[in-house]
Formats: sequence, structure tokens, C-alpha cells
Amino acid sequence: MGKGEKLIYRCQQCGYESSRWLGRCPDCGEWNSIIEELVRLEGKKPSSLLEKERMSPLPITKVRIDENKSRYRSGIDEFDRVLGGGIVPGSLVLVGGEPGIGKSTLLLQIANTISKKLRRVLYVSAEESPHQIKLRANRLGKLSDELFLLSEINFEAVEKGISETKPKVVIIDSIQTIHDENISSAAGSISQIRACTSNLMQIAKSKEISIFIVGHVTKDGILAGPKVLEHIVDTVLYLEGQHYNIFRVLRSTKNRFGSTDELGIFRMSGNGLMEIANPSETLISEKSNHLSGSVIAATFEGSRPILVEIQALVSHSNLNFPRRMTTGVDYNRVLLILAVMEKRIGYSLQSKDIHVNITGGIKVMEPALDLAIFSAIASSYKDKPIYTKTAVFGEIGLAGEVRMVNQVEKRIKEIINLGFKRCIIPQGNIKNSTLSSLKKNIEIMGVKNVKEIINLTLQ
Ligand code: TYD
Ligand code: MG
Repeated sequence: MGKGEKLIYRCQQCGYESSRWLGRCPDCGEWNSIIEELVRLEGKKPSSLLEKERMSPLPITKVRIDENKSRYRSGIDEFDRVLGGGIVPGSLVLVGGEPGIGKSTLLLQIANTISKKLRRVLYVSAEESPHQIKLRANRLGKLSDELFLLSEINFEAVEKGISETKPKVVIIDSIQTIHDENISSAAGSISQIRACTSNLMQIAKSKEISIFIVGHVTKDGILAGPKVLEHIVDTVLYLEGQHYNIFRVLRSTKNRFGSTDELGIFRMSGNGLMEIANPSETLISEKSNHLSGSVIAATFEGSRPILVEIQALVSHSNLNFPRRMTTGVDYNRVLLILAVMEKRIGYSLQSKDIHVNITGGIKVMEPALDLAIFSAIASSYKDKPIYTKTAVFGEIGLAGEVRMVNQVEKRIKEIINLGFKRCIIPQGNIKNSTLSSLKKNIEIMGVKNVKEIINLTLQ
């Protein structure tokens, strides 16, 4: 250990600092997450944004909005939607996701579309050489002269690259592989990630550059160094999906410039990620409509309605503790619905294995899905299909009552758009006067409690 250096122990999960080694982090409770780090005491003095600009307090009414600094579109609508309507100049966005899910592909596509609009983009990759990136980019469409590549792991070199090329957008792939020499710990450690991310934040804010950083997730599905990273950045996006499924969903879990409940849906193809502008058509399969256990539900994600197909399978179990498995729906909600079913309808489910899933590999946690889950399980239990061309939505309460949901009109319009003839909705929503104009296109039926659902849905 040289002069001016100090040895500290830091938790790689939450950033907790200690002067001695500990087996378990007292702050976040993680085991074996504390490792030693060498810290340089007289590092580079961080330049504060305030120091540079010397701003004084200003009444909000006097703050001017510069048109050039307002949002601009990336050229990929699904991506802009998740960001809240486009890219905000000077924002720092973290894109997380499992390895191989398509983060580099998505960001390279965005880099390409933005650069075609004559906004210069610098794509920094610490994982691939310019040659490898070009090979991939060739599959993604026509390339632009304004897209610059830099293959570098050293932070200072990245900083130099940014001042040389003067880009409007910078992409860092990935934050775990960038290394700042002022910090002596290894690339990927919490100190490195934190230092590099906050330096990038400085660059983004002072030069009005939008920076996207890729973050790998750990095997538990959380971003490595989660709390530290998520606090610093403006927006956190996750690219999710299952490797064997072609659908990819982009969602935001934090957004300083927009709502977090928007969803972008993509399809992985041979030429990169393709937007799916009308997800309902893709997510429901006509074929299984007449089979038992399959129900179409109208759910709401962000600002748009999406139709999804819920499937349930109720089968005899040989286990002492029968299985309850869910994919894409809330496990606890399914348990609650099963309890309501046993108590209020009298179905005997103790000796049954029950599987519930959403087709297409997407995740929906909305309670308005309750009615569909309920009908799918009932349909499979009785082995009777649901009436054809029927879609349902509504929340179920503990007493077996069907409760009102929001955005009814938009949901029904989507159901009509996809050619359905009947929809079953909460009785409380029927009074809504705006529904009367829709009634000529579709038969709308209200239900008050779970008993009525069985009669109306099962053939
Ligand atoms: P990638 O973007 O490298 O994932 P990440 O950066 O999240 O680790 O995506 C890798 C996968 O995407 C790989 O398995 C191949 C597939 N892929 C396609 O199917 N089509 C394409 O056009 C591209 C570029 C990749
Ligand atoms: Mg990658």
C-alpha cells in the first residue's frame, strides 16, 4: 500500500463501508459481499456543476425553457414511449437486463436511428471491438456517418473521446467493464461503478449530452450494485424476456421525466429488435380460443390497453402439497382467487395442481386481471371452454364481489378493435354513460359477484 492510499472494506451490494472485514453486511444483510478496496486519498477533485455555472436561486416563473433542449425522438416509438415521450437532453439512463437479452442490439439500433437524424452518437463498447460492433450493426440496417465507435475500458479515454467527437448521445456498453484509474479497485466493483456513473452524470448535465449506460444484472435479477446505481441515474429501464421466446419487453422502474408504467414491446428478429405497435394482435392466439382454460383479458399498461391470453391448467395432484405455479401473473393474487373460489363457489381445489400463465412471455400485475384468472381456472376445472369471442376484465374482492376498474372505455374499444363480440365487466362500471355508444358494437355484460361469472362465461 503506497503513501496516500488507504485500505477499506466495502459491500458490493449496497456500498456500505467498514474499516475491517465482515462476513455479513450490517446494512443490507448480504453475506460475503464485503471485499477490500484500495482508495487513493488525494484523487482528482470532483468538479461540481454548481461551481462551474455559479447559479443563483431563480423564481420558477422566470425559468426559460429552451426549445433546443426539449425532448427529441429516437426514431423507435416503443423506446420513446417508455422514456416518457422521447430522449431528454442531459439525462442519464441505465438500461439493465440479463446477458444476451438484447441490450447491445437495442442500443446500437437506437444509436443508428438517432445518428441518421444528424445527431452525433458515440457508442463506447468495452466488450466488443469496432469490427465486431460493425458486423452486428450491418444486420441492423443502413449505417450513418454520424455514428462513432470507441472500444475502450479506460474512463479517461472515454472522456477524451467524448470531448473530441462532441456527440449529442453517448452509449456506454457496459458500466461494469469501464475502469477509472483514479480508483484502484477492480472494474465492476461498487466503487468503480459509482465513480464512473457519477462522472458520467457530471458530463451529461454539464454538456447536455444524453448518456445511456448498460448494466448487467446478477443472477438474482437485480442490477449489480443496485441501490448505488439507481440513485444516481435519472431513469432506469429494464429489458426483459425469456430467451426461448421472441418477445422482449422494455419497462422503466424509475423515471425522473415521465411515468414508470409505460411498456415497450419488441420482437427479436434476424435484423435486430422490431417494434410491435399493436401488441394485442400478437399476444392472443385465435387457435386456443375454443379450448378450456383459456381466457382473453383486457389489461392496461401505461397509456394503452393490451389484450392478453390467460391460460390455466387444473389437474389431479399426487403430491401432499399440490403445486401452484404462475408465469407472468401475480402468484399471491392467484392464491387469493383460489381461496375465494373454494369459499364462495365451493370448488374443491385442495387435491389439484394449478398452473396459470400469460401467453407471449409478458408480465402483468394488474388486479383487473382477476376475472380472467378466475374464469380460466374455473374453465379448466370444469373442462368447459369459455364462450367464443368473449373478453373479460375486473377485480375480485375477498367476499367474492367484483370490483370496478379504471379505463373501461379504452379497454372495451380495444376489445372491439380485435373483433370480439361480448365482454364481461364489473357491474359497477356498467353505469358509465360513455359505454352506451359502444353497445351497438359489442354486447356488454356486468357481473356483481363471482357466482355470476361462472354462468356468463362457461359454455
Ligand atoms: P445482445 O444485444 O448481445 O445481448 P446483451 O447485450 O443484452 O447481452 O443480444 C444477443 C442475442 O440477440 C444473441 O443471442 C443473438 C440475438 N440477436 C438476434 O436474434 N438478432 C439480431 O439481429 C442480433 C443483432 C442479435
Ligand atoms: Mg451486450
